[in-house]
Amino acid sequence: MAGGGPAANNGVLKRAHLYEYNITGYFIFACVVGAIGGSLFGVDLGVSGGVTSMDDFLKEFFPAVYRRKQAHLHETDYCKYDNQILTLFTSSLYFAALVSTFGASVITRKKGRRISIICGSISFFLGAVINAAAVNILMLIIGRVLLGVGIGFSNQAVPLYLSEMAPAKIRGAVNQLFQLTTCLGILIANLINYGTEKIHPWGWRISLGSAAVPAVLMFIGGVFMPESPNSLVEQGREKEAREVLERVRGTKNIEAEFLDMKEASEEARSVKNPFRNLLKRKNRPQLVIGAIGIPMFQQLTGNNSILFYAPVFFQTMGFGSGSSILSSLITNAGLVVGALMSMAVVDKLGRRFLFIEAGIEMFCYMVMVGVTLGYKFGDGVALTKGYSVMLVIVICLFVTAFGRSWGPLGWLVPSELFPLETRSAGQSVVVCVNMIFTALIAQCFLVALCHLRYGIFLLFAGLILVMTVFIVLLLPETKRVPIEEVYLLFENHWFWKRIVGTRQPPEKEMGEKEANLQA
Ligand code: BGC
Repeated sequence: MAGGGPAANNGVLKRAHLYEYNITGYFIFACVVGAIGGSLFGVDLGVSGGVTSMDDFLKEFFPAVYRRKQAHLHETDYCKYDNQILTLFTSSLYFAALVSTFGASVITRKKGRRISIICGSISFFLGAVINAAAVNILMLIIGRVLLGVGIGFSNQAVPLYLSEMAPAKIRGAVNQLFQLTTCLGILIANLINYGTEKIHPWGWRISLGSAAVPAVLMFIGGVFMPESPNSLVEQGREKEAREVLERVRGTKNIEAEFLDMKEASEEARSVKNPFRNLLKRKNRPQLVIGAIGIPMFQQLTGNNSILFYAPVFFQTMGFGSGSSILSSLITNAGLVVGALMSMAVVDKLGRRFLFIEAGIEMFCYMVMVGVTLGYKFGDGVALTKGYSVMLVIVICLFVTAFGRSWGPLGWLVPSELFPLETRSAGQSVVVCVNMIFTALIAQCFLVALCHLRYGIFLLFAGLILVMTVFIVLLLPETKRVPIEEVYLLFENHWFWKRIVGTRQPPEKEMGEKEANLQA
């Protein structure tokens, strides 16, 4: 099967049309292992969200929070959830992740993606065990820091690994396994929480310990999975790289793709400090769009806040104590459906289409939430059932739109933008920025909700508008473009070409080899 043709990209590409691939068992195995990394991320997000609302857990570690929760149980207002200590506990994981991801970057670059995935799984495992056994806050925090380190490593290496292993033509769908399994992880964690909440007084230990299961799977997979050929070339192990590429692609005819990798690695080898390199003018588009813009905007969509607020609407609809679990089941199902939709079309309709189409929808839904709450909620006024039903539907549509756009593309697009020499450094900045904004939103959302009230949702709507315009103007379409040729898109982009200019081919010899290939 031939790879993506240059015609689809206005003749910008070099050798892409010569790439060949088949879907092999070797490739599928690599994807499964990579995707387990996503489930670990999801289990962590889901478990911690659920456990911090369990009474037994609060009584044991945060008795003051528990008392406050009981006192405010029946209030309908914007400020009843505001609790900085508890959110700080949740955020400690993100802070650990954002620091450790820089260490992960060095390992990913020098020792390979596999080793980072294995390190991540060990850290996850230890974190889960310590958390499950916690008898004091210190153990709890050490456990969470280790989980954060696990996320720092796996979110750094997994999206990158998946993008490198995938044939260009289906890279979008393959990479989005990460998002799909993140959402499935959240869903499974919620189900576990639902069960363990009823086991008094230590059910939360099972929840926290459950992250150990995917950690073990990821470790076993990590031991047996192949290193990505791009990373092997980067480490100078060319013979192995060629063998792996042949096995993964299921063909001996890999010369064109291999040449692209070698060319990228020549460039990479001349770079001493990948982080400084990221700041160079020629990498400006990757820095602005991939490393900062997309991960920051993913969190500024307000998706996590919407997920957080959903139970209130369900409660108002009369679902009582079951409202939390019901809302998370429904919203997470929406995220999973979104991820599946995205996988089905991302390599056909493209990244830009999804970003723009879903962005317009998300803007409208946020405005609807803000306006409805503004008129119908707060100051002791509860929502009527009719408005709650409407908001629940709007929320489902919102998370499905996020689930097929900013959710998966927030990890996919950055992982495919960077050239090899800054890829792992770039991905670290992606994880770091994403985590900073995840923690920031988690930390500030409740205070902002208390003070800005419904205005916070209108603020998110405004931000969604800004990010959609950002995509329209600055992101070139990367669908079906081989990862080592993505930089060419910027050299031909209406705006970025003024910044990056045109690169010289790294070697004359490469040009000759290419001519032979074409012949
Ligand atoms: C985001 C998370 C989010 C998850 C599910 C991921 O892509 O990075 O912040 O919770 O999707 O919505």
